[in-house]
Amino acid sequence: MSGFETRWLDLREPADHAARDAGLLQNATAYADAGGNAVTVVDLGCGTGSTLRAFLPAATRWQWQLVDNDPLLLAEAASRNHNGMTLDCVQTDLGEPSPELFKRARLVTASALLDLVSSTFLHMLVSSLDKRDCGFYTALNFDGRCIWDHAHVADARIVNAFNMHQRRDKGFGPALGPVAEGVLRDILRTNGFRVLTGKSPWRLGAGEVELQRQFIIGMATAAAETGLVDHAVVEDWRNYRLDHADSNCEIGHWDMLALR
Ligand SMILES: C[S@@+](CC[C@H](N)C(=O)[O-])C[C@H]1O[C@@H](n2cnc3c(N)ncnc32)[C@H](O)[C@@H]1O
Repeated sequence: MSGFETRWLDLREPADHAARDAGLLQNATAYADAGGNAVTVVDLGCGTGSTLRAFLPAATRWQWQLVDNDPLLLAEAASRNHNGMTLDCVQTDLGEPSPELFKRARLVTASALLDLVSSTFLHMLVSSLDKRDCGFYTALNFDGRCIWDHAHVADARIVNAFNMHQRRDKGFGPALGPVAEGVLRDILRTNGFRVLTGKSPWRLGAGEVELQRQFIIGMATAAAETGLVDHAVVEDWRNYRLDHADSNCEIGHWDMLALR
C-alpha cells in the first residue's frame, strides 16, 4: 500500500483524528472564524480531505480550496459528502508553491505532509504566506519516534534506517523527515509568526491491527532499501512486529499553529 493511496489514507484517518492536538485544532478554528463570514481555508496535500473532516462541523462555515497533485485523490475528496459543502479542488504540484494559491486564504493547512518536504520548500511556503492575516496550521507530521510495548532487539536500528529513508527526496528536494519541526519553527519565527506547538502521537493497540501491519510493512521495506540493516535482521524484525501487531505502540507526530 503506497503512502498516498486512498486505502492507506482511510486506514490512518481514525488514528489521525484521535491524535490531533485538540487545543491547536480549537485555536485554529477560532482564528479562522475570527476572519468573518467569507473565510477561505487552503489545504495543501489534501489527499481525500482528512484535514477538512478534522475541522467538522466548523469547516462548513468556510470556503475550502483543496490542493494536491494527484487527480485521483482530488476526485475522491470531491466525491465525499462533506455535509453538502462545495469544494474548490486544485490540481497542482506544490514543489514550487505560488503566492497566488494563498491570496484569499485566512488559514493554510497541511497534514501528514511536512516531514516529506525540504528546508527550501518551507522557506518558499512561509514567504508565500505574505498576507498579514494568514495563519498556518499543520498536523500529524512524523517526528521519528516509534515505541513498542514488546521490544525487539533491532527496533532502534530499524527506526534509525527508516528515519534515514525519510530524509530522501519525496518530490520537494531533500526531505527534512523527523527534523522538520525545528526547521519550520525557526523559519516561522524569523518571518514574524507566533508559533504554538503540540504533540499528536498515534497511540495504537489491538483496535488498530491493520494500521499497525501496514505501517510495519512500509517501515521494513524502507529500512531494507537503505541497506543500513542486514536483510535477515529486517525480515526477522518484520515477522516479529507483524506477530505483535495487536500490542501497544506509540508513533510520534507533531502539530503546529502559526499566527501573526
Ligand atoms: C501522506 S498524504 C496526506 C494526505 C492528507 N493531508 C491526510 O492527512 O490524509 C500526502 C499528500 O501529499 C500529496 N503530495 C505529495 N507530493 C505532492 C506535490 N508535489 N504536490 C502536491 N501534493 C503532493 C499526496 O498526493 C498526498 O495526498
